[in-house]
Amino acid sequence: MPGKISPRLSVPEHIEKPEYVGKKAPSNNKLGDKYSSEEIEKIRRASKLAAEALELVCASIEPGITTDQLDKIGHDFLVKNNAYPSTLGYRGFPKSLCTSLNETICHGIPDDTIVESGDIVNIDITAYLDGFHGDNNKTVTVGDVDETVVDLVTRTEEALNRGIKAAMPGREVNIIGRAIESYAKRFGYGVVKEFTGHGVGRAFHTGLIIPHYDSQQYRDVIEPGMVFTIEPMLTLGEADWDMWEDDWTVTTRDKSFSAQFEHTILITERGPEILTKVEND
Ligand code: MF3
Ligand code: CO
Ligand code: CO
Repeated sequence: MPGKISPRLSVPEHIEKPEYVGKKAPSNNKLGDKYSSEEIEKIRRASKLAAEALELVCASIEPGITTDQLDKIGHDFLVKNNAYPSTLGYRGFPKSLCTSLNETICHGIPDDTIVESGDIVNIDITAYLDGFHGDNNKTVTVGDVDETVVDLVTRTEEALNRGIKAAMPGREVNIIGRAIESYAKRFGYGVVKEFTGHGVGRAFHTGLIIPHYDSQQYRDVIEPGMVFTIEPMLTLGEADWDMWEDDWTVTTRDKSFSAQFEHTILITERGPEILTKVEND
């Protein structure tokens, strides 16, 4: 159920805003998906900050907290670190992160909804720092959660890891979707198709699409120097979805629970490297 959305939080003037803020949509400059080592350093810093923000917000989740309070924690952390919360004002999105509970697949808007034991909560937060975005999300369980739901969450993270491992240079991006879908199907989970991974870096969404299912439509070749996200959404029931009247919140049509995990990854000569990590090992 939608709750009440609080007034928009402000960002200090000295923090650089992405070009789309205050506009209806981003300008569709095709900026490409491969980056120089200097650019990669900047994406690395934005990604590490996004990962730290995600960790902080997730550590704050407990029964009784509102999703709006979680938004404020993520917002304040990014701003304190001189970053802009990429979702704030992105195509009109009103908050600094997405909170997607239970049957919400993605893009839930923080509001006065109270988190309760038995919920699963996905936090999706993106940092814009020094001209570059880093994007990540994860799902956490709150208190006593049904075992079938815990399994869904654990296996969705495993599906992401398998998708990452499949992202080898020289392969087509659909290999990522194939790895994710074939794993999910073992358990009979629904695989959401219409929301995808994406190129990320100078733009929040570059236009490059990373499918989470096996699709011959997506045949871009993975190359060293590329940066993109992988962010599978798996459901306990069917993968069909509805959108709320807020034009953002996406839920399963059958109201079955849905989990998601996301990393921003860099492709090196040797293979994929996760950039949205707190510690670089
Ligand atoms: N961070 C989301 C993604 O993984 C995008 C959120 S856009 C918003 O691509 F406007 F809904 F915030
Ligand atoms: Co993303
Ligand atoms: Co995201």
